[in-house]
Amino acid sequence: MYSQGLMGVEETPGGEQDLLDRFQARIDAGEKIEPNDEMPEAYRKTLIRQMSQHAHSEIVGVYPEANWVTRAPSLRRKLQAMAKIQDEFGHGLYIYSAAETLGVSREEMIGQLLSGKAKYSSVFNYPTLNWADLAVIGWLGDGAAIMNQIPLCRCSYGPYARSMVLVCKEESFHQRQGFEAMVALMDGSPEQKAMGQDAVNRWWWPIMMMFGPHDADSPNTEMGVKWKIKNFTNDELRQKFIKATVPQAKLIGIEIPDPDLRFNEETGDWDHGEIDWDEFWSVVKGEGPCNHDRITARRKAHAEGAWVLKAAEAYAAKQAARDAA
Ligand code: 3HC
Repeated sequence: MYSQGLMGVEETPGGEQDLLDRFQARIDAGEKIEPNDEMPEAYRKTLIRQMSQHAHSEIVGVYPEANWVTRAPSLRRKLQAMAKIQDEFGHGLYIYSAAETLGVSREEMIGQLLSGKAKYSSVFNYPTLNWADLAVIGWLGDGAAIMNQIPLCRCSYGPYARSMVLVCKEESFHQRQGFEAMVALMDGSPEQKAMGQDAVNRWWWPIMMMFGPHDADSPNTEMGVKWKIKNFTNDELRQKFIKATVPQAKLIGIEIPDPDLRFNEETGDWDHGEIDWDEFWSVVKGEGPCNHDRITARRKAHAEGAWVLKAAEAYAAKQAARDAA
């Protein structure tokens, strides 16, 4: 029950229900909730959970791509890949900062990621086998991310909503550069076309999984939508993504690897084949093809970057001592 963990309920005039009603009225009126506003504890916890997982996803999400920077097919593609990777790291830092306004420290969030306790997007636990994978990650992976993140620009928590504005502009570039790389492949030799199709075959289902479990199996959706943290459910966003992607795939001659995908005239939606939820949950639990590699790489980077933190702390202490003198 979401109202179990209310912040400061005892001190709230009128008690728990009053706080919930006041809070819901603000949400329903479309007001933004800011860091120092009163909020139910469960709202704060939900945001910390979602935002920290989101930030971790941005950080871990660079690993499948970093693998291909040194092997990009041209200088232009290398520059694109490097720019995208820098953007993604920036997004992670931005979202960690926004999450810190809820009273959780960055060290705590990062500690949860490094210990393997925290979740991050399942899609980043699959390998990138060739260059076409980068094109598909940009086109479809970032395409799916935008579908989810544009509504987050309107989410009820002010710092999260504002952080999403820049993130979405950059993700939009990522999606376009991926699509443009895909167009180039599909305009190329038979081998290049086959590479493009093969990459879509391998990534389609992991990308469908990015939107999360079906609404009926999503424990967080009901309150997420009620509190306008989520403006659409997981299935609604998955459907929007399919609607946007089908014509793009057709345009460039890509076949979507789902024999059950067909437009339903009655509902106006695309019916699609069943997602392998056993695979999804095993990846979420840490048993995907690359979970171990991703966390190992992150731990190594953290350990190797520890000196930067120490240097920054030493510099801050020196400045503080100077200012105090
Ligand atoms: N991978 C890993 N875990 C997932 C998941 C996925 N694809 N989808 C759902 N889950 C987890 C949830 O986090 C939740 O776990 P928890 O309750 O233990 O914390 C559990 O499965 C049940 O799912 P719910 O649907 O109930 O969870 P949510 O309501 O939080 O919905 C979400 C999941 C749609 C991912 C939502 O959290 C969300 O919109 N998050 C913000 C956006 C985000 O994190 N995107 C990740 C990709 S970022 C990215 O791709 C970067 C870009 O550069 C490519």
